[in-house]
Amino acid sequence: MKKTRLTQLLGIEYPIIQGGMVWVSDWRLAAAVSNAGGLGQIGSGSMMWDQIRENIRKVREGTSKPWGLNIPMMRPDFEDIARIGLEEGARIFTTSAGNPMKAGPLLKRSDTVIIHVVPSVKGAKKAEEAGFHAIVCEGYEAGGHNGMDENCTISLVPQVVDAVTIPVAAAGGIADGRGILAALALGADGVQMGTRFVATVECPAHENFKQKLVEAVDTGTLITGRKMNMLRSLRNEFTLRMAEAERKGASVEELLSIIGEENDRAEMGMVRGDVQEGVLEAGQSAGLVHEIPSVAELFKKLDAEYERALAGLM
Ligand SMILES: Cc1cc2nc3c(=O)[nH]c(=O)nc-3n(C[C@H](O)[C@H](O)[C@H](O)COP(=O)(O)O)c2cc1C
Repeated sequence: MKKTRLTQLLGIEYPIIQGGMVWVSDWRLAAAVSNAGGLGQIGSGSMMWDQIRENIRKVREGTSKPWGLNIPMMRPDFEDIARIGLEEGARIFTTSAGNPMKAGPLLKRSDTVIIHVVPSVKGAKKAEEAGFHAIVCEGYEAGGHNGMDENCTISLVPQVVDAVTIPVAAAGGIADGRGILAALALGADGVQMGTRFVATVECPAHENFKQKLVEAVDTGTLITGRKMNMLRSLRNEFTLRMAEAERKGASVEELLSIIGEENDRAEMGMVRGDVQEGVLEAGQSAGLVHEIPSVAELFKKLDAEYERALAGLM
């Protein structure tokens, strides 16, 4: 696979970042991805402070390669997480779902690399201005929370590439070597993938969730929460109930009553394995997931697919 400005910036072999993922990207997944030559990341979104510290200590034992810490800025304590990350020795950070002007000054030091996740050209320019070293440009094909503008990856990436000078990783809808090559053809310096990494041996997600990804087809995901907190996840009884209520114009209060007392539907689905009533965050690329390999096997496959796709273009 091609070496790019991103591989150089991060000191990694393949231009592949494993996206930080709430509930399902702990130190084990991060270390496996980094050991395989990508950038593994701890997703701090669902972790208590002591869990973040523990995960950082363990990832440092688990790999000598570069790894990152993802900080979703919807966490009201994101400044504390940044401080903990720096104290524990994290040196590569991705921040998401928030204002890069607030995150940049917290994390930028001479020994850190900071990357911001954006869903638009405007967000990309702001991140560059805030001093970020690179951008993850995410289309709304992606699993998890999406940008409200619903830009798709194939048209957003070249627009962002044209708008900034720093390296760009494309995210959303990429799950095989063909997708990685396509992202580079659009001018990106690499990719960030989430959904594909959930269905790996090392991912701590519940086996029921992984199995649902393997079974998913092209129409397997949907977006809910356009009035609240837009999210792409697998279709199931709960998300279809939400989508139907939204179609009928349900108010935020009505939607909250459908969510009910359960305080975290994502944990219920992704960790506890309730695949009908929990939320299973996943992107449209779920339809490209057909097996649950180890991370090392996945990297071998991605590399072979990439080279085959490239040869097919010659
Ligand atoms: C289960 C899951 C949880 C996610 N949680 C987060 C998160 O906590 N922080 C974040 O920045 N992105 C999160 N994302 C987005 C990923 O980091 C990544 O950008 C996205 O999955 C890429 O698109 P793809 O799913 O098509 O590969 C999540 C994605 C998934 C599938």
